[in-house]
Amino acid sequence: MIRNDARGYPLTTASVEALAEFEKAQRLFSIYAGDPLAALQAATDLDPSFALAHVMRAHLLISGAEMSARGDAEAALKTAERYTAGLTPRELGHLAAARAWFRGDLVGASRILDDILMDHPRDLLALQMGHTVDFYLGDTINLRDRVGRVLPRWDSGVPGFGHVLGMHAFGLEEMGDYVAAERAGRRAVEHDARDAWAVHAVAHVLEMEGRSADGIAWLSETKDGWVPENFFAIHNWWHLALFHLDRGETDRVLELYDSQVRATRSPVVLDMVDASAMLWRLNLTGVDVAGRAQELADAWAPRARDGLYAFSDAHAAMAFLLAGRCDLLRETFVAMDEAAEDDSRTNGMMTRDVGLPLVRALHAFKAGRYGEAVEGLRRIKGIAVRFGGSNAQRDLIHWTMTEAALR
Ligand SMILES: [Fe+2]
Repeated sequence: MIRNDARGYPLTTASVEALAEFEKAQRLFSIYAGDPLAALQAATDLDPSFALAHVMRAHLLISGAEMSARGDAEAALKTAERYTAGLTPRELGHLAAARAWFRGDLVGASRILDDILMDHPRDLLALQMGHTVDFYLGDTINLRDRVGRVLPRWDSGVPGFGHVLGMHAFGLEEMGDYVAAERAGRRAVEHDARDAWAVHAVAHVLEMEGRSADGIAWLSETKDGWVPENFFAIHNWWHLALFHLDRGETDRVLELYDSQVRATRSPVVLDMVDASAMLWRLNLTGVDVAGRAQELADAWAPRARDGLYAFSDAHAAMAFLLAGRCDLLRETFVAMDEAAEDDSRTNGMMTRDVGLPLVRALHAFKAGRYGEAVEGLRRIKGIAVRFGGSNAQRDLIHWTMTEAALR
């Protein structure tokens, strides 16, 4: 049975109650809060044939770039594929996009999500998944313009408008339009104080403009919105620690690392990426992080052989290098060598062009071969966007190169 969602687009479910759970999942996912997977589970318990709810489950699991979630993601896709009869083109598009991403074809997923948005510019899920794939792809133009293309079809009367502004803010920021980005991000947070992504977009502006005092104030005053039960909280704590690092306040950085960034010893890849990124920067400033790196390397150990996403692999390698875990580093090199050979996945290019040369250069840096490190990092610094992440995250490449050159 066809029903309309909160933005007026038809979708297929027999159950009004299941649709309400699906909408709840969308609201939670749009601010990275609570447990959208539980809401989707409730939706498919109420209507087991609710294909788009199964596909959204796959979207969420795939977008975490977690090898451990791939089994569940594939099961959700297979279930959805049992109920394709009578689905709308938009629902079939979501299924095709999730399939493409699952196969590792991020470029294909990006294009299909754009196809959906051409006909359905207010499809918040397609927009958010597209924004996420743009982030993984390092497609900075689309981080701004995918959102910019649909924005004229939104206004404050459409549920989720604030989140569109928040995504636009991040895209504007990555493209260097800091004034417009800050304005859009602050407007988004006025719409919804719990919008962790919009808070984060403004933090990026303040980081890029070197406004560390403003950054500390911003994250502190918005904290009640993005901390409680938020999947994104650790990353925003990381940004707060980065502002303190910019100011040379090492003790505060270590305190935030211990009490927030690494407090739960989270095994979630995105959380471990933040921890690696902070320890590497601290080590560049001369802080001894060996003890903390041991814990982090142990947490990364089950992921050492993943070779799923070069950006994550490089951050795993940083923890292994800092902890002196040559055994785990060797495993990651093997996984990345294999990934670099696999051109069926976008990650093949990412690993070959950026991931492997980066890890080799970081390895040279830790071994004191500074000339080799400088040359390796010089070769990739202009193309590092190809393995995704943000400008603030990739700044580690420039910083390490400069430190290597000084040494
Ligand atoms: Fe960030």
